[in-house]
Amino acid sequence: MIDDLERLHDAGRQRVAAATDLDALHEVDVEVLGKRSELSALKQKLGAMDADERRSAGRRLNEVRSALEVHIAERRRQLESDARRARLAAERLDLTEVIDTTELGHLHLVTQAHDQLEDVFVGMGFTVAEGPEIETEWYNFGALNFPPDHPARAMYDTLYVEFGEPESTLLRTHTSPVQMRVLEANDPPIYVVCPGRVFRSDTPDASHMPVFHQIEGLVVDRGITMGDLAGTLEAFTSAYFGGAIHSRLRPSYFPFTEPSAEFDITCVICEGSGCQTCKRTGWIELGGCGMVHPNVLRNGGVDPEEYTGFAFGFGTDRLSLMRYGISDLREMFTNDIRFLRQF
Ligand code: DAH
Repeated sequence: MIDDLERLHDAGRQRVAAATDLDALHEVDVEVLGKRSELSALKQKLGAMDADERRSAGRRLNEVRSALEVHIAERRRQLESDARRARLAAERLDLTEVIDTTELGHLHLVTQAHDQLEDVFVGMGFTVAEGPEIETEWYNFGALNFPPDHPARAMYDTLYVEFGEPESTLLRTHTSPVQMRVLEANDPPIYVVCPGRVFRSDTPDASHMPVFHQIEGLVVDRGITMGDLAGTLEAFTSAYFGGAIHSRLRPSYFPFTEPSAEFDITCVICEGSGCQTCKRTGWIELGGCGMVHPNVLRNGGVDPEEYTGFAFGFGTDRLSLMRYGISDLREMFTNDIRFLRQF
């Protein structure tokens, strides 16, 4: 009897230790301690034993039984805590934010272009000025020598703002009104560039947007000539695009300059040999320029007998399109991260 009890104790302990989950442990519990277990069968046999033997066998049987109960209870506690830990791990929500520094954003292409252009002009001794995007008719047109009803006003598809008299307030159609604000606020010598956003009621297509960007230049000093204008544009062109790109002037008309010119640069795609982008001319039109009209100087409080000046203005979105070979202006405004990330 005692041998059998020791055997059951050892076997039971091993089976308890081998149970890997709570269901398996429950089965072991029933088989080792249940009504049909060997242990219960041995208990039945106690009745047939003599008193001495029965007492010692009975005591040992109870000891084995409670020892096995303790093993099972311990194993159960362990399996329950394993199960709880596994469940918590499975349900864990990772709320930590991982900041990958390689994913930090960067400046938009147009902002980059403005920064680079400003750097080039600041290097040439210019300062940077800004003006309001909502302007009066006077600053956008009148002060710039566009008489009322002058046909040149029709070149600018103006977006008017409902404010004050009809057509008295508008979204500036170019950065040229900043010229007038600079003239009013400063005495010559003046050397400024004015980058900014401009607006026209254009339908968006590959080369037009109702919102786009320009940079304006204004120089007013004693003895400024058209030669200074040509030299400044040439210096800017090679500083910004590199030595292979040059500039040229073609006669044109703007109410606020006299004489006026368009300025072209060597095609940045083919560097002058002729391609699709420059329509085989080797040149690309960049913007307008000219000698500041005496009426404009006068409107800005500057004596045209004492001072002369030149001005220029061009679109900066197109500049970036050309520089990076982007075919559609609308890409610049979609905020598609896959596009923006490339630059
Ligand atoms: N403001 C003109 C435009 O948007 C461009 C321009 C032409 C600017 C001649 C100038 C200039 O400063 O002198 O079409």
